[in-house]
Amino acid sequence: MKFFLDTADLDEIEEAASWGALAGVTTNPTLYARVGGKLADFESHIERICTIVGDECPVSAESVATDRAQIVEDGRRLASIAPNVVVKVPTMVEGLAATRTLADEGIRVNMTLCFTVPQAMLAARAGARYISPFIGRFDDISEDGIEQVANIVEAVSNYDFTADTVNGEQLEVIAASIRSANHVTQCALMGADIATVPFSVLKKMVKHPLTQAGIDSFMADWEKVK
Ligand code: G3P
Repeated sequence: MKFFLDTADLDEIEEAASWGALAGVTTNPTLYARVGGKLADFESHIERICTIVGDECPVSAESVATDRAQIVEDGRRLASIAPNVVVKVPTMVEGLAATRTLADEGIRVNMTLCFTVPQAMLAARAGARYISPFIGRFDDISEDGIEQVANIVEAVSNYDFTADTVNGEQLEVIAASIRSANHVTQCALMGADIATVPFSVLKKMVKHPLTQAGIDSFMADWEKVK
């Protein structure tokens, strides 16, 4: 399983990248608004993220257009920012159509706001490079987000989508809307390719009270041998 950071906060990205386990970044309009972003600066902000994480790490930048021509135009513009930009497109008819066009042009799409297996199957066949099913938002409406995402992971694994994706690359499922380290555990057990996590969750993933207790006791004992 790979880890992406789900944020538009440059300090968080810089810090997480320095930990050595970061494989990508996902942003969305809410996350950009949360860091005080302005429309005019959006592309330069994405460019800064791309520079921090480097060419090997995909960075998802979302189109908020609702018609296919505009999504395609946004996608082309966003993809021209840096080679590692992935265009995030919501799962809807216009998004699917735009995804097909963008994929045919060699532009990678992360199909987001994906909640069901049929949506995931359509996204895959439309040429999405990544599919982002949401966990927490299912939990928010008293449904089992883990079960829903596990269904998508299993359904995707039943088929070969390499004829549909850019350059025959392997389609990957990004488990999104992750709210806890336990969500990450469940995603790893179900075999999700990627978990995109907020920085708050990433920090919790590192910690365990027994790890800290072990560090404390080893340090105390080391004092005795000095
Ligand atoms: O990247 C989209 C997703 O991770 C959003 O999460 O917590 O707003 O449902 P959340």
